[in-house]
Amino acid sequence: MMLLKCSIFVVFITTVFGNTVKVTNTVQKEATSNLGLFGEWWETSVFYQIYPRSFKDSNNDGSGDIQGIIQKLDHIQDVGVDAVWLSPIYKSPQVDNGYDISDYRDVDEIFGTLDDLRQLVDEAHKRDIKVILDYVPNHTSDQHAWFQASLKNESGYADYYVWKDAVIVNGTRTPPNNWISEFKGSAWEWSEERQQYYLHQFSIAQPDLNYRNPAVVNEMKDVLRYWLNFGIDGFRMDAVFTIFEDAEFRDEPLSGDPNSGPEDYGYLDHIYTANQNETIDLIYQFRELLDEYNANQSYPRVMMTEVYSDINTTMLYYGTEDGSRKGAHFTFNFITFITGLQKGYSTFDLQDSIINWLRHIPSSYTSNWVLGNHDQTRVSTRLGPENIDALNILVSILPGVQVTYNGEEIGQENGEVTCEQGYDPQAIKNCSTFNQTSRDFQRTPFQWDSSINAGFNEGAETWLPVSQKYLQTNLADENVTTVNSHYNIYKQTIDLRQSFRNQTGYFVSFTSIGNLFVAQRFLFDTDNYYALYYNVGDEVMDPVPLSINATATVIIRSNNSAYSIGDVFDYNGSLQAREAVLLKLDL
Ligand code: GLC
Repeated sequence: MMLLKCSIFVVFITTVFGNTVKVTNTVQKEATSNLGLFGEWWETSVFYQIYPRSFKDSNNDGSGDIQGIIQKLDHIQDVGVDAVWLSPIYKSPQVDNGYDISDYRDVDEIFGTLDDLRQLVDEAHKRDIKVILDYVPNHTSDQHAWFQASLKNESGYADYYVWKDAVIVNGTRTPPNNWISEFKGSAWEWSEERQQYYLHQFSIAQPDLNYRNPAVVNEMKDVLRYWLNFGIDGFRMDAVFTIFEDAEFRDEPLSGDPNSGPEDYGYLDHIYTANQNETIDLIYQFRELLDEYNANQSYPRVMMTEVYSDINTTMLYYGTEDGSRKGAHFTFNFITFITGLQKGYSTFDLQDSIINWLRHIPSSYTSNWVLGNHDQTRVSTRLGPENIDALNILVSILPGVQVTYNGEEIGQENGEVTCEQGYDPQAIKNCSTFNQTSRDFQRTPFQWDSSINAGFNEGAETWLPVSQKYLQTNLADENVTTVNSHYNIYKQTIDLRQSFRNQTGYFVSFTSIGNLFVAQRFLFDTDNYYALYYNVGDEVMDPVPLSINATATVIIRSNNSAYSIGDVFDYNGSLQAREAVLLKLDL
């Protein structure tokens, strides 16, 4: 009966309309339990990424901190998210904004203390919000005690990092091979002290740990256990694709990318430094550790992995194809909305990008949707502020997990930062390319209200400047003053998502006709059908070129829409440029 209904639905949407080019794609998956595939909390959750230094400064010293996050838990609860993921708050010289850790078991004083973190976890848990920490396995800070001991060849630590002798060419010392750092230039740095090169796939201050040394593997597994015992609900695993390198240290071939010069990471094809088999196996080992811990817990602690790669490689991080070994609960989907979509996208681009993910993900894995993070130009800036509501609404009807970067809920755009004000280590090396390379723009303080420094603090100079756009875009105005604001729309989308929790499977379908993009979602359990109508173009659409044989009630609409919630959608009416309406269909 259920499947019959689905096929009837497909008939509705494949009705032909004139000679307009139309492409329809459908994806259907069934789940076996009441809550996603495994019946676990995270599968339909919204994860909210907090960039702690820019979230809320409680002590007016210019940097956000843990007490600031505690102060804002009401907001986080109001947003309706299930879990927060904190970018690193560990002890760090902050060369790469905390991704260079000098003590994995302590909190940096910029952010507070371990007690503050404990308080945050307790307060969040009282509100039924989980707390996920960033975990940075590939490298430590060069200030970490392990590296300092390794520099001195101290017993027990000599092989904690990847050390290699120089190659002497015509009497000159050169690095062991041609590997390039993600942050430009050779991935090898000479140590006068040890008279060897060490590997750093990121900045010079971030030496790569040597995972071929079992002591390092044990040490880093202990770090995971430490935080699990602390009460953390999971990990976002940083830059995992770089963990292992080729044991023979072979040169990498040229990529042939015409846009990359010899110093650029893109210059080489990273067949020996990225996504090695041992790396993927280690992720499976981390999962085994989590599963062992989870066996005695009332709910599972989760892990999500950060991998920028092609879709087939990305899928390996979820687990083996035959299901015999599990990996991340989910590995971030950067493919659909980040690497796979550019400003000015067409309906077909959007459809292809979503379908590409859904087609590749095996039924036993949970999808996820990511619009942005601290490494990417903010989605409002990247894909256009006029699309933010449509994208938030679209994500709300896609199956699986949603990840929101703080500020996306208010449509915050990139801020304004000069090279002199910047911190991003890869960008400040060369001010002439700062505007193209810096990630500081997406890290400026959260815009809370229209008071001084956007309410981030009480007026002290902020570590990165507050964006001048805060008077137009801030939470307080969007929450209270503007009825159909980005924030209120975002909250409606989260409410809807939360109502999907009792799904037992899904059916999604996408249709593109000219500039009209239609996404439909059917919930098996509740027999509810939803359709998003989104005019991707710059022109008014009058009338919309596709109607469904059903009465449709508007339940969410973008901020430029003339519709009100509860209106019956008029298929013969018009849709403004970039207008999006989410409809509940009465079939
Ligand atoms: C990850 C982080 C990024 C950091 C890099 C090195 O990609 O998201 O911010 O610079 O790892 O740790």
